[in-house]
Amino acid sequence: MKIAVLGTGYVGLSTGVCLSEIGHSVICIDTDEQKIKSLRRGVSPIYEPGLENLLAQNAAAGRLQFTTSHREALNGAEIIIIAVGTPQMADGAADLSYMVQAAKDIAANLVQSAVVVIKSTVPVGTNDFIKEIMDELCNEKVTFNMVSNPEFLRQGSAVMDTMHADRIIIGSENKEAAKKVEEMYSPLNVPFILTSIRSAEMIKYASNAFLATKISFINEVANLCGVVGADVTDVAKGMGKDKRIGETFLQPGIGYGGSCFPKDVRALLHTANLNGIHFSLLKETVAINDFQQEVLVKKAIERLGDLKGKKVAMLGLAFKPETDDMREAPSIKIARSLTNLGAEVVAYDPVAIDNAKNILRDTIRYASSVNEATLDADTVFIVTEWNEFRHLDLETMINTMRQPIVFDGRNCLEEERIRVCKKIEYYPIGRPPIVIGMT
Ligand SMILES: NC(=O)c1ccc[n+]([C@@H]2O[C@H](COP(=O)([O-])OP(=O)(O)OC[C@H]3O[C@@H](n4cnc5c(N)ncnc54)[C@H](O)[C@@H]3O)[C@@H](O)[C@H]2O)c1
Repeated sequence: MKIAVLGTGYVGLSTGVCLSEIGHSVICIDTDEQKIKSLRRGVSPIYEPGLENLLAQNAAAGRLQFTTSHREALNGAEIIIIAVGTPQMADGAADLSYMVQAAKDIAANLVQSAVVVIKSTVPVGTNDFIKEIMDELCNEKVTFNMVSNPEFLRQGSAVMDTMHADRIIIGSENKEAAKKVEEMYSPLNVPFILTSIRSAEMIKYASNAFLATKISFINEVANLCGVVGADVTDVAKGMGKDKRIGETFLQPGIGYGGSCFPKDVRALLHTANLNGIHFSLLKETVAINDFQQEVLVKKAIERLGDLKGKKVAMLGLAFKPETDDMREAPSIKIARSLTNLGAEVVAYDPVAIDNAKNILRDTIRYASSVNEATLDADTVFIVTEWNEFRHLDLETMINTMRQPIVFDGRNCLEEERIRVCKKIEYYPIGRPPIVIGMT
């Protein structure tokens, strides 16, 4: 099947590469010339495990191409997948300007009939709105049908998630169009859920809002555990074994971030407001998350007092491990709070430093290793649970710090490893602190 994908971001590129891997002929279009140049050289503009290998293999096999020309890409495409960004506007609504431009680009260049699939996360009613724009602008000989096919991949495991998804949502009012999309995905052997377009659009927002709420819930439980002397790790384990609750998304920490949860939760709240629904549970989800992102700084002030002139080593910048994405990463808020308080911040991340520099500029310093960041530090903040940090050489780190005080925002250091240290003060989230050898 010949498929065109608009947008080579985290979703578009992963989708395009995986569809070529299952045998389709895929052409990916992006308006960003640098990205396309890089992709043509076989270099992925994003860090995503396993993606670059598959990209190179499928490009070499002639199944995967890249272009900046919509005309070239849409020529002969049976399915056109839109995977452009839908960022957040100031009032919380989803910004559909890239979506509208994509619709105009398709309408201006489509010369044959096709199925138009919206994969981007879009508010309920957007497929209808995009169809109206295209109906008005398309050549009258061209017919097309819309399919809403929201994406659920997670950055850091995008290839695995695409190849082994839990389900594929296909929302359409046209049976033929839905069947065509089923056919495209059929080699993946993933269960399909067929719905109306509006239900499909809502499934994506409701899923992300539910997961965000689960995170905020366990973070509130963690804060309570910290006060009443319970251990949230045991509590979450005990809760999660109940199949009705489930173990995933019950890890306490410094809140959710990234390019999806924050904006999608706010966009759903915006839709609810517009429609007169007072979604108070979701408002609390956001408020708890905002509070949680400040927890490490508050704990540090409680322990160290004035942070002016204190050196804080931040381990991790990306919003989660295995990605270089800094969009809405909790590290941004933490770094800004620390620098506003006069602290000197030195950060290390295995892959996100370049992207972090675009946001935090020279307000903080950047280190090229854990040891460089933690040298002479008054305290360490663990902000992203990279595997490298789970296994870091604690003894060396502690011996080179000014004071061995560690705030673990992701509970990623094992208790047994801390207990063998000669001197350490360790503050996790929602678990009792461990203090050894301090006077
Ligand atoms: N990132 C994720 O983990 C994830 C997961 C599920 C769903 N989503 C949703 O998928 C959508 C895309 O997210 P992303 O993270 O991949 O975005 P992104 O910002 O990484 O990529 C979007 C790409 O689209 C390109 N683009 C913009 N307008 C274009 C046009 N008219 N023609 C061709 N290309 C164009 C941009 O240059 C950019 O490269 C969003 O709606 C997002 O909410 C994202």
